[in-house]
Amino acid sequence: MKNGKHSFVLFGGDYNPDQWDRATIEEDMRLFKKAGVNTVTLPVFSWAKLEPEEGVYHFEWLDEILELLWANQIQVILSTPTSAQPAWLSAKYPEVLPVDIAGRKRTHGMRVFFCVNSEKYRERAAAIAAVMAGRYKDYPGLLGWHVANEYGTYCYCENCQKKFRLWLKKQYRTLENLNEKWHTAFWGRTLTSFEEIMLPTELNDDYRFNPAIQLDYMRFVTASTIECYENEARILKKATPELPVFTNISGYIKKLNQFELVSHMDVAGWDNYPSPTDERSFSALKHDIMRALKDGKSYYVVEQSPNQQNWQPYNKLKRPGELRKIAYQGLARGADSCLYFQMRQSIGGQEKFHGALISHSGRDDTRIFKECMDLGNELQLLDGSFVAGRTAAEVGILFDWDNWWALELCSGPTQDMNYLEQVHHYYKPFYYQNIPVDIIKQTSDFSKYKTIVAPLLYMIKEGVAERLEQFVKAGGTLIATYMTGYVDENDRCIYGAYPGQLRDVLGIWVEEVDALFPEERNYIRVKDGHEPQNSYESSFLCDVLHTESAQVIAEYTEDFYAGMPAVTVNCYGQGKAYYIGTQTEQDYLSSLVRNICDEKGHSLIFEFKGELEITSRENENGIFTFIINHGSQTGEIDLKNKRYKNILDQKSYSGKIQISSAQVMVLLGEGEESL
Ligand code: GLA
Ligand code: ZN
Repeated sequence: MKNGKHSFVLFGGDYNPDQWDRATIEEDMRLFKKAGVNTVTLPVFSWAKLEPEEGVYHFEWLDEILELLWANQIQVILSTPTSAQPAWLSAKYPEVLPVDIAGRKRTHGMRVFFCVNSEKYRERAAAIAAVMAGRYKDYPGLLGWHVANEYGTYCYCENCQKKFRLWLKKQYRTLENLNEKWHTAFWGRTLTSFEEIMLPTELNDDYRFNPAIQLDYMRFVTASTIECYENEARILKKATPELPVFTNISGYIKKLNQFELVSHMDVAGWDNYPSPTDERSFSALKHDIMRALKDGKSYYVVEQSPNQQNWQPYNKLKRPGELRKIAYQGLARGADSCLYFQMRQSIGGQEKFHGALISHSGRDDTRIFKECMDLGNELQLLDGSFVAGRTAAEVGILFDWDNWWALELCSGPTQDMNYLEQVHHYYKPFYYQNIPVDIIKQTSDFSKYKTIVAPLLYMIKEGVAERLEQFVKAGGTLIATYMTGYVDENDRCIYGAYPGQLRDVLGIWVEEVDALFPEERNYIRVKDGHEPQNSYESSFLCDVLHTESAQVIAEYTEDFYAGMPAVTVNCYGQGKAYYIGTQTEQDYLSSLVRNICDEKGHSLIFEFKGELEITSRENENGIFTFIINHGSQTGEIDLKNKRYKNILDQKSYSGKIQISSAQVMVLLGEGEESL
């Protein structure tokens, strides 16, 4: 592979041969070949073995493993082992250990347990990265570099405090400016020197720290983590400029601003661990967020579990067929890999009961081994035809980390604020109707889309309101919701009624917002709608709002705001701007979205029946349409009079076809009309 391009789906995952003897490792090779494993990632946690004392390196054992892998034609993503520093490093240089939010200096033992701002950590991490880069840059099976593992430690040590102050000085230049942006006049928190700035810990706060400061701390941790990543990545890049360098984002994506972190990576990498109770739309949304990190470019699923996890409260086994559906959901939505944690189950340690390709039984006739093997061999047949394919969407959903953090740092209006769940709520009507959607940034090019949904756009960054206005003026449809247009980038509320800068385009103003108790409901009545019913439940938050130029589509029927507008639409320029003032039940959103899509002419890939997920990826080989039946019943798609080849069974299809439960198809147009 050169320039980060490969023509096959990466299949395999995290391999920890440092836990095993030579005979087991040789058996691994046999099993990998049998299962169609073509790629492994290593040595993620081997720092202690590679550098048993400062500056003394032992790489011979890794050389041997790499030779064996090459002899078996298994490609390698080499990881720097820097997510788990050796015990001697923590003992010799305690500054590498983090201080937690409660002010406790942590001791050695965990992984991803270092201060990203520690100079000593960075020095030793760069040193081992340089040794690895020098030693393996010409290794023929090298696919790319994976730096550390799942960054995301928040440290509150004195060094971080010092650096935070410097970072703030750089951002705000003067104390006067900082005092104004943080609105420190509130509670008399005015600062008279940068040295007085404290970290947002529990030592000086019981969770009521000024949210503007907390927000900046999250930005600072992202910036520090980027420096820490770059500290190694730049060495690897220099040694092998043509190979991709990346790190794997933890399944829990909130901690760091991934738009920022990934902009420093060559490709996005993500660990996908859906909980068994997650709706399939929720993992689809996360995949779409991953695709957004590099503006639509394909990404890697770096980890998923072949079977149960060990860290869920109840670790359900993957049901028969589940592994394949999860794998194809990723491939369908933009991933070029299907990698697992882990290849062989450890016999000890925290994760000894985590699923693996090879379980403690060591056998190749287990249910999971066989399912992986079938999938691995099937993926080989696909020959990577859709790799690097992009997804075309006419609908964009705005997503933003600062907005996420700021919304959830708020004290009020409700303690149930969960931005990701809220975005999911507005994603679902598109997902379940198989209307392709791109997740987009506030800085994305809006003109590519016909419809933009901006769920809870609480923080509007500079220039974004104007660009949204332009978008609508030029004929676009905007869908905005409650909690829109409240604050600037420092979480300071705008003056002159919400939704602030979007007030004109939406044609409304919001006077108050009522938080409902979890079990409480209001109702909306749809006026002259085309909806199948005219009354729907609403919950969570209810805006008390007034129209200026907008028309009322639905109004509340309960409480003191009964009869007042709940959903509105404003014609603006050539376009329309909808405002949804309360969280309505899904049925209403589905029908609203369907009406908007009909009006805008957003076409479906195929007409369908049943619980099907349908999505396409396009590259120079054509348009590949993935169909996954997630339901227990047979579904149906209508290919009309076009002919398609299912590249999974090499058969040709046309017209109405039945999709059985758990079936997956990957259709490629044959370019001819059927008779
Ligand atoms: C994370 C880590 C892996 C492993 C898995 C277990 O994603 O990156 O090392 O601990 O979780 O699910
Ligand atoms: Zn620190």
